[in-house]
Amino acid sequence: MEPFSCLLHHHLLLQIIVLMLGPTCARTITYRNISLGTSLAARTGRTTAWLSPSGEFAFGFRPVEADGGLFLFAIWFDEIEKKTVVWCANGNEPVQAGATVVLADDGQLSLKDQEGQEVWNAEVNVTVTYAAMLDNGNFILASGDGSVRWQSFDHPSDTILPSQVLAVGKELRSRLMDTDYSSGRFKLSVRSDGNLTFYPLNIMTGFEYDPYWATNTTGNGSRLVFNESTGTIYLALNNTNVDLLPERIYSMKNFYQRATLDFDGVFRRYIYPKNVKSGAGWTTVGFQPPDICRNLTSKTGSGACGFNSYCTSGGGNQSVDCVCPPDYSFLDPNRKYKGCTPNFAPQNCNGRFTLTEMINVDWPLSAYEHLAPIDEDRCRRECLGDCNCAVAIYQYEGGNCWKKRLPLSNGKRGDYVDRRAFVKVPKDSTKGDFGTKKIVIATILVSIFLLLVCLGLFLWKKNRKQVPTLAVPITSSKERSGMELEWNLFDMFTIASATDNFSVNNKLGEGGFGPVYKGRLDDGQEIAVKRLSMDSAQGLKEFKNEVMLIPKLQHKNLVRILGCCIIGEERMLIYEYMQNKSLDAFIFDKKQGALLNWQKRLYIIIGIARGLLYLHQDSRLTIIHRDLKASNILLDKDMNPKISDFGTARIFKGDQNQEKTRMVIGTFGYMSPEYASDGTFSVKSDVFSFGVLLLEILSGKKNRMVHQSEYSMNLIGHVWRLWEEGRCVELLDEAMGYSYPISKLLRCIQVGLLCVQEGSNDRPTMAEVVLMLSNEGVALQKPKRPGFCIEISLTKQDSSSSQQNSMTPNEVTVTMLGGR
Ligand SMILES: *[C@@H]1O[C@H](CO)[C@@H](O)[C@H](O)[C@H]1NC(C)=O
Ligand SMILES: *[C@@H]1O[C@H](CO)[C@@H](O)[C@H](O)[C@H]1NC(C)=O
Ligand SMILES: *[C@@H]1O[C@H](CO)[C@@H](O)[C@H](O)[C@H]1NC(C)=O
Ligand SMILES: *[C@@H]1O[C@H](CO)[C@@H](O)[C@H](O)[C@H]1NC(C)=O
Ligand SMILES: *[C@@H]1O[C@H](CO)[C@@H](O)[C@H](O)[C@H]1NC(C)=O
Ligand SMILES: *[C@@H]1O[C@H](CO)[C@@H](O)[C@H](O)[C@H]1NC(C)=O
Ligand SMILES: *[C@@H]1O[C@H](CO)[C@@H](O)[C@H](O)[C@H]1NC(C)=O
Ligand SMILES: *[C@@H]1O[C@H](CO)[C@@H](O)[C@H](O)[C@H]1NC(C)=O
Ligand SMILES: *[C@@H]1O[C@H](CO)[C@@H](O)[C@H](O)[C@H]1NC(C)=O
Repeated sequence: MEPFSCLLHHHLLLQIIVLMLGPTCARTITYRNISLGTSLAARTGRTTAWLSPSGEFAFGFRPVEADGGLFLFAIWFDEIEKKTVVWCANGNEPVQAGATVVLADDGQLSLKDQEGQEVWNAEVNVTVTYAAMLDNGNFILASGDGSVRWQSFDHPSDTILPSQVLAVGKELRSRLMDTDYSSGRFKLSVRSDGNLTFYPLNIMTGFEYDPYWATNTTGNGSRLVFNESTGTIYLALNNTNVDLLPERIYSMKNFYQRATLDFDGVFRRYIYPKNVKSGAGWTTVGFQPPDICRNLTSKTGSGACGFNSYCTSGGGNQSVDCVCPPDYSFLDPNRKYKGCTPNFAPQNCNGRFTLTEMINVDWPLSAYEHLAPIDEDRCRRECLGDCNCAVAIYQYEGGNCWKKRLPLSNGKRGDYVDRRAFVKVPKDSTKGDFGTKKIVIATILVSIFLLLVCLGLFLWKKNRKQVPTLAVPITSSKERSGMELEWNLFDMFTIASATDNFSVNNKLGEGGFGPVYKGRLDDGQEIAVKRLSMDSAQGLKEFKNEVMLIPKLQHKNLVRILGCCIIGEERMLIYEYMQNKSLDAFIFDKKQGALLNWQKRLYIIIGIARGLLYLHQDSRLTIIHRDLKASNILLDKDMNPKISDFGTARIFKGDQNQEKTRMVIGTFGYMSPEYASDGTFSVKSDVFSFGVLLLEILSGKKNRMVHQSEYSMNLIGHVWRLWEEGRCVELLDEAMGYSYPISKLLRCIQVGLLCVQEGSNDRPTMAEVVLMLSNEGVALQKPKRPGFCIEISLTKQDSSSSQQNSMTPNEVTVTMLGGR
């Protein structure tokens, strides 16, 4: 009870605050002082509310999104753009302008409509001396001794908030639709027997159908608790806790949080970053049940979706969709849960029907005839010949065939359904929605495939024509003599003894240009030796390039070459040894990734940026790396990042700022669009690769490897979508843990997106990137659409080696000769 005493100070102060809301919102009139004997009136075009001391929660009248003329008497998050409602007294009966909420002198709290009729009452029958909207989202009515007589936390709608506890007998009831707050189709119940249960309901009668999920626990004193310090949502029983949603800590300081039984029947926990001006949104960080389509099979109800439709679910938030079979349409397209109806009369015998096949679809329970074992063909014929049959379900295992008539119930689609449905549709009907979509998709797939085949053939032919030796522009005899002065030439004997005669045990990896060995010099210094294959013409060129370049470069974020060794045809490069090998071994690996928390990742990102900045402008030369990627970033024992592999780097002279090459060398997934398509490269193509690398480091995913069903594109495309939807938090590598300053992180992602913008002129320079990353005062621009590089699956062609790691076929450096 102590929080209330300090709150008293706040609400004794009279403050009438008039706030301006976002662009489309009308003025809000808010009162901090909630005194007995006062009231609020609903006013058209306005929001009237009492605020919590922090201003985070408001209690009052909110216009219904779908119909601005109607108001909810509600509690909502007031500091976010979408004023998410967390409690509501009159979802079934929104009121009109002129309605009032009265806090009477005796503490009675009631809602009266515009005609003065009481719509709702808190029903407190003891004397209340004060009311307060608390900072945790709880509205309380309390008596003089501080004891709470009524609180919104005890009368939840569909949401619970951190620190809220639902006692035995309490329920959450979902709303009907996202923007329709009337009582919905699902309920979560804290039962006295200790079995927390989710029920589907009949909307009209409130009748409970068979539960679709239950904890199956028993015990005394059950309570549902949302623990604000651990983020756990659990059921307290006897003296133990049964987790409903597992622990995931998001600090209350940085995130708004809630858990809601959503209108689709899924109980989800959400977070929303605080202090983010735009681009933020609610992100799902846990849900139950695991798969409602799969779990909800009700003998009497229609299932998770309405009759004659079927349920699909998926994605990171287990979003649920209700779909109609071909030649069926929604009874009400705005209320898909109502189900579907056929566009024809299916249950008759005029004989002009055919069957449409649907894979992994079933409507369980509504069969009127079961035939087994028969083959699929016979099953189809059985249904076609039967006037009552609307759908035949066939299961290969056991040759089962079920004939079903309308209405179909509990429909579901998913790869766990080992059956296929044959839906009876009229023969002459034009192709259903479903069929058309399938054809369109198939056409697109075939075109893409043909395109890839052509491209592949083209590249293959080009490569066959490739001349083995090309002049290295930077190799002038002058520079060569310079090199000999600065270089430490190792003799073969030293290297052989350091690497134990190139023993297999010392081999670190195999690159395209030859193997890499670990070695130890007599003085104890550890080295890495890149031994170039003798037959690699490409390798020779890159070797020269690297030999020329690296001695000129001294920076703590560039790998240092200690020297080289040339004996006849044998060529070797000797580098400092990097204990922690390369970055890709960390960020793309769940276990290793856990070693890199947010601070370390940011440190690595900034280190790479500094190294690249040095290459671009701080060294005596302007150097374009051209093959920046995770496997080319090496890590020393203190996890300092060092850029390596300068085999493909190019020097720009004087005021040259871009160059075109017929020979595109780089790695797919990291190449900028202009470089991949016409060979133009500049410092901005490195900036693009850096942006990709940054996003990979934060997400723990390879740009070219993001292929879950929910993402149709590569990582860049995925990030862009999350950015547009304000769900960037979902991007972050789980291995990173959950404690990070969200605003810094979003900023970092924004910098990444700025780097991968389509237009090279839009991309910042590395100097700007370093500034943006290390100085939070610098304002960031809004990123434009990124350049998506084409996804091409190439097998190993000409490829460069990475110093200390073996290569995966997906990550080879490719060389291709551009047309013209
Ligand atoms: C503010 O609260 C105090 C104490 O509860 C009360 O005396 C005063 O009348 C209130 N002012 C308004 C405008 O309601
Ligand atoms: C109102 O008072 C009656 C008895 O006086 C009590 O049984 C009931 O629980 C009270 N209701 C509330 C909401 O406190
Ligand atoms: C719900 O489905 C999951 C699998 O998705 C299963 O493990 C679980 O036991 C099911 N629960 C109920 C109540 O059917
Ligand atoms: C919990 O409720 C579910 C659904 O009614 C039921 O299937 C299950 O047997 C119950 N478990 C216990 C332990 O009571
Ligand atoms: C609870 O029990 C029901 C009925 O026995 C079972 O189908 C379901 O999978 C169980 N749920 C969990 C979460 O174990
Ligand atoms: C609570 O106690 C009852 C009775 O001893 C027991 O059956 C039940 O399993 C306990 N529940 C939990 C969650 O420990
Ligand atoms: C449950 O509560 C009843 C009544 O208070 C008590 O007799 C019983 O021992 C309790 N069971 C457990 C497991 O705590
Ligand atoms: C929440 O969890 C913390 C840490 O486990 C614990 O100390 C605290 O008592 C819990 N709070 C509630 C209300 O259970
Ligand atoms: C789930 O995510 C999808 C996008 O992936 C979004 O369209 C949908 O609104 C989300 N659903 C919920 C309930 O958050």
